[in-house]
Amino acid sequence: MASGKHAGKVAVCVGSATGMGAESAFRLASEGASVVIGDINMAAAEKLVDRISSAGGEAVARACDIANEDAVNALIHGAARQFGGLDLMHVNAADLSLGPKDGDALSIDLATFDRSVEVNLRGHLLCTRAAIPLMRERGKGAIVYTSSDAAKTAAPFQFSYYVTKAALNALMRHVAIRWGAKGIRANAICPGVILTETVMRHMSDEVRTDALKRVPSPRLGEPKDIANLVSFLLSDEADWINGQAISIDGGSVMHG
Ligand SMILES: NC(=O)c1ccc[n+]([C@@H]2O[C@H](COP(=O)([O-])OP(=O)(O)OC[C@H]3O[C@@H](n4cnc5c(N)ncnc54)[C@H](O)[C@@H]3O)[C@@H](O)[C@H]2O)c1
Repeated sequence: MASGKHAGKVAVCVGSATGMGAESAFRLASEGASVVIGDINMAAAEKLVDRISSAGGEAVARACDIANEDAVNALIHGAARQFGGLDLMHVNAADLSLGPKDGDALSIDLATFDRSVEVNLRGHLLCTRAAIPLMRERGKGAIVYTSSDAAKTAAPFQFSYYVTKAALNALMRHVAIRWGAKGIRANAICPGVILTETVMRHMSDEVRTDALKRVPSPRLGEPKDIANLVSFLLSDEADWINGQAISIDGGSVMHG
């Protein structure tokens, strides 16, 4: 059997073909988990599986649009059938293509708002509904949702992104309080600016320099920062951490 802190565990990573999700899935596999990657970008998902396999890990890729209930159920139940159960889940998907159309509460077209809800929130609910009964069969489980510092702050633009990420934190807290006593933990990570390929594509050097000025730490985030936190939160080392929306942002948003 694989060694590492996730040895013997089965993990589903949804919306994890690229960026911080991919780095987290790679980390879980390198620490011993059998990983099932569900994403709409199968080319990238297959590439990630090759990378994991070359490093000695176990992973498979499955096509899954998180907005589609049948596809989500097939992904998560299929993972449990293939690997004998479900222990860990990272739900990371967001429709980041909506950004330019995501205006303020007056200007946003409702189709953009609805799609944002469908992927960033309802899709996470679908994953949750499929996963919890399987985790209950195991007697415990851990879920991490990728939220954002946007959930804790405000902006005059990207209305639906901020709203759906805030609601996602509420979903996470619901899962934590409803099923915590049954051994299921749920937490959300709230990244600040993480230099993933998607972000790099849309961020000019000027915007990046500006973003860095708002971070107390001397650099912006990298996907491996997220992988560190996701792996920890899904591990038994985090057994007493439940219902938290944890910022990982070099100190951009401080709470106390
Ligand atoms: N990069 C940042 O600065 C930043 C900051 C805060 C929060 N986040 C959040 O982190 C997550 C990942 O962002 P990223 O920067 O790594 O971008 P990314 O584009 O690399 O990751 C998004 C992933 O979700 C997948 N996806 C999109 N729609 C999907 C759908 N309908 N069904 C299944 N999968 C779908 C994409 O194919 C991709 O693999 C997102 O939830 C994003 O909101 C990112």
